[in-house]
Amino acid sequence: MDRRPVISGNWKMNHGPEAAASFFGELGSAGGAARVIIFPPALSLPAAVEAARGTGVEIGVQNVHAEVSGAFTGENSAAAAREAGATLALIGHSERRHVFGETDDQVAAKVARAVAEGLEPVVCVGETLDERKAGRLEEVLDRQIRAALTTLPSDGAFLIAYEPVWAIGTGETATPDDAAEAHALLRDRLTEARGEVAAAVSILYGGSVKPGNAAELLAADGVDGVLVGGASLRASDFRAIIDAA
Ligand code: G3H
Repeated sequence: MDRRPVISGNWKMNHGPEAAASFFGELGSAGGAARVIIFPPALSLPAAVEAARGTGVEIGVQNVHAEVSGAFTGENSAAAAREAGATLALIGHSERRHVFGETDDQVAAKVARAVAEGLEPVVCVGETLDERKAGRLEEVLDRQIRAALTTLPSDGAFLIAYEPVWAIGTGETATPDDAAEAHALLRDRLTEARGEVAAAVSILYGGSVKPGNAAELLAADGVDGVLVGGASLRASDFRAIIDAA
């Protein structure tokens, strides 16, 4: 199992095919000491796969539908993403959960579909500010991770990303201690559910990670990597985060 630090970038709804190709031209070779992953938007996926060839960067899709295929206008199937060259699938990102109303059950179903089609799932979990203020951090993470574990592979071939909703795109970053607390909780649940296999699973932190705070967050207890949004859009920023690993 690959336990190098994971530096991943989620472009969200940014970068068309041309911008995706330019990004990889500028980034150059990136695999090595870290496992490097980019999640481009679906329409840019083939261009990203092509441009990333030989760089060591892996490419994932940002979302998949739970069904194999069918009348779901505007959606993308896991099989199509795989065919287009994706090897991972981001599932249950907080924007999917909170903007598009995805439930824990839907997240579990999407995980099952991704795995069935040969995509490595990266499941996102995290609490809102209200939930944190109400002292519900543990309850929320527990519920989200347990639901995902119903369909996550038993061999540990998946990643988890802890992304506190209040830290996403806000410039507000969890402290290394906040991250360590949440990661320890998630690690406990993984160990309860999967025993020794849990040690193979990397848990990433996401939420306003930037070149200036990446090293500190990556050094926090139990933080095995990062999932970067805004700061993954410019190759120079993303390169600086890779170099911090
Ligand atoms: O998937 C990435 C996260 O939503 C973090 O986004 O780095 O822009 O806060 P951000």
